[in-house]
Amino acid sequence: MDPKRVSPSAARNRDPILAALRRLLGPGTTVLEIASGSGEHALHFARNLPDVTFQPSDRDPDARASIDAWAAEAALPNLRASVFLDVAGPWPEFRADTVLSLNMIHIAPWQAGQGLIQGAARLLPPDGALILYGPFVRAGHATAPSNLAFDADLRQRDPRWGLRHIDAIAAEASAFAPPEILDMPANNLMLVLRRRA
Ligand SMILES: C[S@@+](CC[C@H](N)C(=O)[O-])C[C@H]1O[C@@H](n2cnc3c(N)ncnc32)[C@H](O)[C@@H]1O
Repeated sequence: MDPKRVSPSAARNRDPILAALRRLLGPGTTVLEIASGSGEHALHFARNLPDVTFQPSDRDPDARASIDAWAAEAALPNLRASVFLDVAGPWPEFRADTVLSLNMIHIAPWQAGQGLIQGAARLLPPDGALILYGPFVRAGHATAPSNLAFDADLRQRDPRWGLRHIDAIAAEASAFAPPEILDMPANNLMLVLRRRA
């Protein structure tokens, strides 16, 4: 059976995310992608940003098989094979300038979000970026009805899951400057947190 997975949402959001990454990632950047899922994002970004190296990862073996199958087929010099990384556990040694996490922090217990932020803080050099993408709750901004419904659905599936408040992320991320917040389509946001020196 073909291990390659196809994610309809990745097909919808990959270009707006790519446009933001194009502005954020300079030539020579190495990106550690957390929770790469199907692997289609890393493939799309590597194909379109040939000067940036992508290191996908996931904790799920089926996800890693999909990531690696897409990557093997494309055979891009700037797209590495996946590595096992559970953000809530010990992180392997890496050198990366950017840690990218798309659509993970709300579909995992908050301990995973804390592990992501603390792991990125240990790994990133000064000014290195932790980039988060997905739906968030933002002070002073009404949460879109579709995101409220998504949040309720997530909490029903697992009470430890749910949309994260940007203030809670910023409070956990004391090693980072306050997040730059970019509006993205379909009521999503991109948070860019820069590692303090
Ligand atoms: C909703 S999918 C998102 C996949 C992809 N980033 C995207 O946007 O299409 C969530 C992914 O998070 C991964 N994941 C969940 N908990 C994790 C953890 N503690 N450490 C690493 N990955 C995790 C799952 O295996 C899954 O691939």
